Amino acid sequence: MNSPAATTARRRICAAVTPSSSLSKIRTKARALFNSLHIRIQPATELLTIINELGGNILRHAGRGEICLEVLTQEGRLGFRIVATDSGPGIADIKKASQPGFSEDNGLGLGLSGITNLSDKVQIDNLLPHGTRVEVIKWLSP
Ligand SMILES: Nc1ncnc2c1ncn2[C@@H]1O[C@H](COP(=O)(O)OP(=O)(O)OP(=O)(O)O)[C@@H](O)[C@H]1O
Ligand SMILES: [Mg+2]
Repeated sequence: MNSPAATTARRRICAAVTPSSSLSKIRTKARALFNSLHIRIQPATELLTIINELGGNILRHAGRGEICLEVLTQEGRLGFRIVATDSGPGIADIKKASQPGFSEDNGLGLGLSGITNLSDKVQIDNLLPHGTRVEVIKWLSP
């Protein structure tokens, strides 16, 4: 059983990110979730920016994948866990890829560092045999 202080998931949405659907599915589902929870415009915009960057990376660097968004509560505080997964090539040097300005293909290289600035925790893992998993946690101000 969870203690009252434990982080517990209350709602979870997922959507495929593919070249044909692009980011529209996850954006639409996320917006509906934020509206239903009455999330203010600023944190909602920041969360959508994180989703855009993660989804953009899936499309650009891996081709297709999935993004899930989960509602968290901890001691009465609301937060979100966003997990982006794909079966692409993975990231050779995660530390380097997370630095502002690093891009393998002439992008701005500000996606992963921007996500870090907008969130409380970012965990990037390579998946076996190949692929990338990025987990982001963002807590909202009371
Ligand atoms: N899902 C992924 N699969 C493989 N490599 C990735 C993935 N996400 C990021 N990377 C690698 O990390 C680098 C940095 O990503 P980041 O999002 O910061 O910059 P970018 O995508 O190159 O440019 P932009 O600023 O337009 O997002 C990428 O150039 C790429 O090499
Ligand atoms: Mg990017």
